[in-house]
Amino acid sequence: MDLVRETDWTAHWRNLVEARQAEAEAAGAGQRGYWNRRAAGFKASLQGRSDDPFLDFLEPWLSPRKTVLDVGAGWGRHALPLASRVDWVTAIEPAEGMRELLEPAANLTVIAGAWEDAEAAPADLVICCHVLYGVAEVASFLLKLETSARERVFVYMRDRPPPLPAEELAAELGFPRTRMPEFRDLWLVLRQLGIDPDVTMLRYPARPVYASLDSALEEARAALGERWDEARGRAFLEARLVPDQDGRLAWDAGEMVSGVAHWQPRKT
Ligand SMILES: C[S@@+](CC[C@H](N)C(=O)[O-])C[C@H]1O[C@@H](n2cnc3c(N)ncnc32)[C@H](O)[C@@H]1O
Repeated sequence: MDLVRETDWTAHWRNLVEARQAEAEAAGAGQRGYWNRRAAGFKASLQGRSDDPFLDFLEPWLSPRKTVLDVGAGWGRHALPLASRVDWVTAIEPAEGMRELLEPAANLTVIAGAWEDAEAAPADLVICCHVLYGVAEVASFLLKLETSARERVFVYMRDRPPPLPAEELAAELGFPRTRMPEFRDLWLVLRQLGIDPDVTMLRYPARPVYASLDSALEEARAALGERWDEARGRAFLEARLVPDQDGRLAWDAGEMVSGVAHWQPRKT
């Protein structure tokens, strides 16, 4: 068998997402409402971070006349800076906790809901950053991104496991988990869909920060559910988190490698 040509990569993707979700649910750490609960921690962990190279990468496509659709915009890490560079940004975001943290801007519309259900007008540029890891039905999601873009689609995701203490802790506590889909999976799915994207790899330091040991503990407990071990988990985090100059605690996960698949939408 020719593994690359004969594997159904959308089915492979679905299996990864569903297996990981089932493992989390079996451990009482289900992902339902995950982004609502994690919104503030996620924003705090990235705040002050000027090392996400995605906006610099996007610069050549930006102009004051363009419109942008940001699918899974979170707290507006990209949507807000983009609003000051383009004519209009529409942010699609299902998690209320995230939307509450998204600061308003005169030329920013927020649509509450999942992309699968959203009715959004097409935009010149469609971006989707770090959203697909938990999306089981990836093919229809990607095709909707493509039909919603007039000029270019950009799909950005890690090509490494999540840079979070809970990932390492899970292995240490004997909780082996199916990996999340990564950029390499995305590329194979896109090729299967007949899309030949340009690919740009971005490298940047992965260093989430926590306001306190308690907030790092809270995140790890939620991720591990019944597999959590208070004594070992606490000792692990105390030993491995490094104090920052401003008193916060950082998790030094080394270099992150992510990929952006970007392409001109095919005519339908
Ligand atoms: C890791 S955050 C990334 C947020 C933002 N794009 C960024 O890079 O900072 C993932 C976001 O995707 C959103 N999301 C998850 N599933 C989604 C879906 N089916 N449709 C739209 N957004 C989704 C979550 O609510 C969350 O805000």
